[in-house]
Amino acid sequence: MSLSRQSAQEMARRRSALFDGGYPYLVAEVDGHVAGYACAGAYKARPAYALAVENTVYVDTGRQRRGVGRALMEQLISACAARGYRQMIAIIGDSSHVASIAFHQRLGFAITGNLKSVGYKQGKWLDTVFLQLPLGPGDTTPPDKIPGG
Ligand SMILES: CC(C)(COP(=O)(O)OP(=O)(O)OC[C@H]1O[C@@H](n2cnc3c(N)ncnc32)[C@H](O)[C@@H]1OP(=O)(O)O)[C@@H](O)C(=O)NCCC(=O)NCCS
Repeated sequence: MSLSRQSAQEMARRRSALFDGGYPYLVAEVDGHVAGYACAGAYKARPAYALAVENTVYVDTGRQRRGVGRALMEQLISACAARGYRQMIAIIGDSSHVASIAFHQRLGFAITGNLKSVGYKQGKWLDTVFLQLPLGPGDTTPPDKIPGG
C-alpha cells in the first residue's frame, strides 16, 4: 500500500475524526505489513440517522481473495452491533464495481438502491449502489440507546 504524503495526511485526519466519534477502525496486518483496513462512520450527521453507519473496506491488491476483507468486515459488523448501531450501509461508487457488490452480498448485505447516472467521470456516467445489512435486532425493536449519545 503506497500513499502520497497528502493522502496519508487526509487518511490520518479522517481516522482521528472516526476515533473521536467512537467509531471502530480496524487494520489487518499480514507478515508485518498492512494488508487492509475497514471502518465505519456516520451515515448522516443528523440525529435521526444516529443508528445507521456507512462502512468502508479496502484490501491491498496483492492480498485480495484470501479472506482478509471478510475477516475485517466480520469484526467491523460485530463491533458496530455491540455499540448499538442497527443498520450498516455500503455505498459503492458505480454499478460496474461488481467485486465490491459481490463481496458485500457474500457478507449478507442486500442491494437496497441504485441511483442511476448521478456521477460523471472519464467520459462515463456513474451509478451509486446502496447495499444494507441490519445489525443486531435491526428495525424489529426500538433503540434502547443512541450510540455516542
Ligand atoms: C472488495 C474487497 C474489500 C474484498 O476483499 P478480499 O479480501 O479480496 O475478500 P475476501 O477474500 O475476504 O472474500 C470474501 C468473500 O467475498 C467474495 N469476493 C471477494 N472478491 C470477489 C470478487 N472480485 N468477485 C466475487 N466475489 C468476491 C469471496 O468469494 C468471498 O466469499 P466466501 O468467503 O464466501 O468464499 C477488495 O477486493 C477491495 O479492497 N477492493 C477495492 C476497494 C473496494 O471496492 N472497497 C469496497 C467499497 S466500500
